Amino acid sequence: MKGRTELITGLDVDTREDALAAVDIAAGCAWFKIGAQLFTRCGPAIVEAVRDRGKQVFLDLKYHDIPNTVAGASRAAAALGAKLFTLHASGGKAMIAAARNAVEGTDTRILAVTVLTSLTDDMLRQEVGLPETAAEAVPRLARLAVEAGAHGIVCSPREIAMVRETVGPAPLIVTPGIRPRWASKDDQARIMTPREAAEAGADMIVVVRPILKHENPPEAVRLILEELQG
Ligand code: C5P
Repeated sequence: MKGRTELITGLDVDTREDALAAVDIAAGCAWFKIGAQLFTRCGPAIVEAVRDRGKQVFLDLKYHDIPNTVAGASRAAAALGAKLFTLHASGGKAMIAAARNAVEGTDTRILAVTVLTSLTDDMLRQEVGLPETAAEAVPRLARLAVEAGAHGIVCSPREIAMVRETVGPAPLIVTPGIRPRWASKDDQARIMTPREAAEAGADMIVVVRPILKHENPPEAVRLILEELQG
């Protein structure tokens, strides 16, 4: 999977019909992210349908539970043929190690989410009860996750350099919050272009609205892939 930075688009829709239409119009993209919204609507069958179109699936369900339960879910994700799936690093080392153990011998890879980018430092302190800022918690949790067996980390573009410095060259770094210069920012605040993210050390970028809301989605995919090739 290492090498040129890869493009993932996300199926942030409610129906099987809309999801498969998105796969078809963004067919130049090899990877599709299925999150809680679509999975809760359509179940495992949507993963199979996307795989049947020859695409790789990133299952973004962010597991966070006791180790035994996360191990079972991880085994299920691998059996479903998801090549990547997410869990929360804050579930702890035993949970992450159990997930890793469950996917051993498969080609499914585990990505850890450190701190949700929707959480501010005030929320972390007052609501979550964490005595650290996000800037302190992200590298600590990234290191913990990789030491426990995660294959990679999901982070925001502005965290790529810090995470790469913390975990070294091998783990995958996957980042959303990407906007080509020609695209609208939508609700994303701290963005990078595909090229900037690749140069900062991202292995995979997640880009959704700039592709699926583009008047010519195949052209949007082509432009992003071209930019990633440098
Ligand atoms: O349309 P856009 O490219 O902004 O979509 C980005 C994708 O990445 C969405 O699926 C969104 O939920 C996800 N994401 C994000 N920012 C995070 C975590 C996930 O945009 N911090």
